[in-house]
Amino acid sequence: MPNQFQFTYSTFASQDALSLADQNLVNQALKAMQQAYAPYSKFKVGASVLLKSGHIIQGNNQENIAYPSGLCAERVALFYAGAQHPSDPIVKICIVAEGELMPQGALLSPCGSCRQVMLESEARQAQPIEVLLVQRLGQIIVLDSVQNLLPFGFSK
Ligand code: THU
Repeated sequence: MPNQFQFTYSTFASQDALSLADQNLVNQALKAMQQAYAPYSKFKVGASVLLKSGHIIQGNNQENIAYPSGLCAERVALFYAGAQHPSDPIVKICIVAEGELMPQGALLSPCGSCRQVMLESEARQAQPIEVLLVQRLGQIIVLDSVQNLLPFGFSK
């Protein structure tokens, strides 16, 4: 019998349409992106994570000449949050990217491994994580939960 998976997400025409707090989160992700270490892909990704305490953590992709040793921006930020603030729930994650792999204005949609890690962060704290996907110089997509990015994700 066919079943359907549906979810609702919001779009904002530009950063200015976001709340001031969300604009700040986007700016933190953009700052992180500029500091990415991505000499091989030349694709810079930034992530900012808002914790319930109000603390904001930044992450960016960290590459290595041994390519698989590098790590995505989202996981750098999430693992830092897990390491330094294990009992401070994650409220939101914001992701932004720029580089040759992506035409100007395209949207970074997180890779499967990052989705899996985001999913476990959400399950671990039993509270949804809002996901803000930022198109450079363009619209912002906001999802209420990581579950919407990874239906049928692997879990315990
Ligand atoms: N990358 C991220 O940081 N996040 C993603 O969701 C997708 C890919 C990084 C990994 C690598 O440094 C570069 O982008 C090209 O794949």
